[in-house]
Amino acid sequence: MKLLTVELKIFNSYKNQSEAAAALMVNVVLNKPDALCCLATGDTPKLAYRLFVERIKTEKIDVSNCAFVGLDEWLGVPPKNSGSCSYYLYEHVFNPLQLPFNQIFLFDALTENEASSCAKMDMFINLRGGIDVMITGIGMNGHIGFNEPGTDEYSHAHVMALHNTTKTIGQKYFATKTAIHKGITQGLATVMESKKLLMLANGKAKAQIVQKTLEEPVSVSLPSTFIKKHPGSYLFIDKEAAQNLL
Ligand code: GLP
Repeated sequence: MKLLTVELKIFNSYKNQSEAAAALMVNVVLNKPDALCCLATGDTPKLAYRLFVERIKTEKIDVSNCAFVGLDEWLGVPPKNSGSCSYYLYEHVFNPLQLPFNQIFLFDALTENEASSCAKMDMFINLRGGIDVMITGIGMNGHIGFNEPGTDEYSHAHVMALHNTTKTIGQKYFATKTAIHKGITQGLATVMESKKLLMLANGKAKAQIVQKTLEEPVSVSLPSTFIKKHPGSYLFIDKEAAQNLL
């Protein structure tokens, strides 16, 4: 189904959805061996990442010229905290692929200079010629990364105060109750400038936000709606997340 510019695909299962997501990622790195990939964290892409790693290893795909950046991070949460985005990406992607440090660039959650940390991320992306594929989930409030409702449409890397929904739901990633107030994130302009944008959602809890994303007008009050303005965007969802569309 073609909706504005979004290629929407509805899958029978999370497994099928994840296989398709992994296949899209594999195709990007096969077509561009020095691709820059930007990766979200969260529960949604876990299986896609596992299948991506498996395919890279079993098919002996050379990713030694690729680079990976993180989509976002909880400001102030150290990378050794198992709830941090950094920990997640090492656990699910970077360690299994045995990627060296020079192929990875993540937000510094402990920075004392937020502006400089954001500028370094933007510079890394610009020097690599932009992001070839960005994988995102959808927050329950429609956030992309930590572009919360009301984010600046023209933003690149920036720091944003987290909404209460994000603070509450975000606790699911942490072993113990953790103070999370701000996120450091790729901006909405960075999302829009990425050559391919793959947004993933699964499970019935995401059905309402998926419906709003597709039905509401494009607006920063629901950042996920920007997927409809992106010229190379894909929305892969399972049938539970699609239940309000059918
Ligand atoms: C978190 C992550 C995002 C992720 C989103 C959805 O805020 N930092 O990168 O896309 O929430 O997460 P989940 O897949 O767990 O629903």
